Amino acid sequence: MSIPKTVQWLGDAASGFIRIIDQTLLPAREQYLDLADTGALVDAIARLAVRGAPAIGVAGAYGCVLALRQGMGEAGLERVAGARPTAVNLRWAVQRVRKAANGDPARALDEARRIHAEDEASCAAIGRHGAALIRDGMGIITHCNAGALATAGMGTALAPLYTAHQQGRRFTVFADETRPLLQGARLTAFELGQAGIAVTVIADNMAPVVLRRGLVQLAVTGADRIAANGDAANKIGTYGLALACKAHNVPLYIAAPRSTFDAATPDGAAIPIEERSGDELRRLGPVQTAPPDVAVFNPAFDVTPAALIAGYITENGILQAGQIAGWLAAPQP
Ligand code: MRU
Repeated sequence: MSIPKTVQWLGDAASGFIRIIDQTLLPAREQYLDLADTGALVDAIARLAVRGAPAIGVAGAYGCVLALRQGMGEAGLERVAGARPTAVNLRWAVQRVRKAANGDPARALDEARRIHAEDEASCAAIGRHGAALIRDGMGIITHCNAGALATAGMGTALAPLYTAHQQGRRFTVFADETRPLLQGARLTAFELGQAGIAVTVIADNMAPVVLRRGLVQLAVTGADRIAANGDAANKIGTYGLALACKAHNVPLYIAAPRSTFDAATPDGAAIPIEERSGDELRRLGPVQTAPPDVAVFNPAFDVTPAALIAGYITENGILQAGQIAGWLAAPQP
């Protein structure tokens, strides 16, 4: 698998910097951005140059090193934690670094590196557990990008696919293009293609037809936040896909590490949903695709109720909704 590195820290705490691949330019250009300033990192997260719940958690952890080094204190850490509201991984990572660092950038870097390494390991474990769901010849549908580009490792939803592929199984992936920012078409198709996995891009509104034709036997997506009752926020369109899967008896699994589960959020209604600029719908790059002043509703995420989710592929195995609260309350293995 030769996917560009999503997020890295280069150098020491005093003079090092964050390097990300600019995902807004993919797949046309593989260009890296070096970020040595808290404001630049916050901007990169907000405009999705780095994106995906675990990846922004890791980027945010490294962002704490910048904020502390720049003498921004609590306000700087809060700025990083608030760069995007829905993915709980970001605030979780900042809290972890805040506690471990006690204001010291070097200790912040040590903790951020631990978060980075743990995410890599979680992805690999999710891959191992989820690969058991994949059989030769299957059609598998996914939404948005929950692959290597969305994490510090091999991905969440795509990790079982990479693992099953490495184990010799062959299958076809249907990647929803994922309106409005096309993470499925631009990023999922790119990284699966690089790995030699057969991928077919479809517009989001084609998923029910693909399901009805019997081309798909399994759906796997990632999540940005999973509430204690199993309701899961993920990229807008996941809920519609889940409804269509239910109608066609295709199981939909959510793949996510523990850092995406939020014991403090009881159910989906309590998950904050980011609303983004209307221009993401009024324009397609430089092209105006709607009247410039038309009203737009642009929530970046939706919530899929637990009742529509067949299971949660985690680093500790595949869980059912009813097991989540107990798992979160138990000491970590
Ligand atoms: O707005 P994005 O591109 O950050 O949204 C990403 C998603 O919805 C992913 O599915 C989710 O973060 C899981 S990533 C492993």
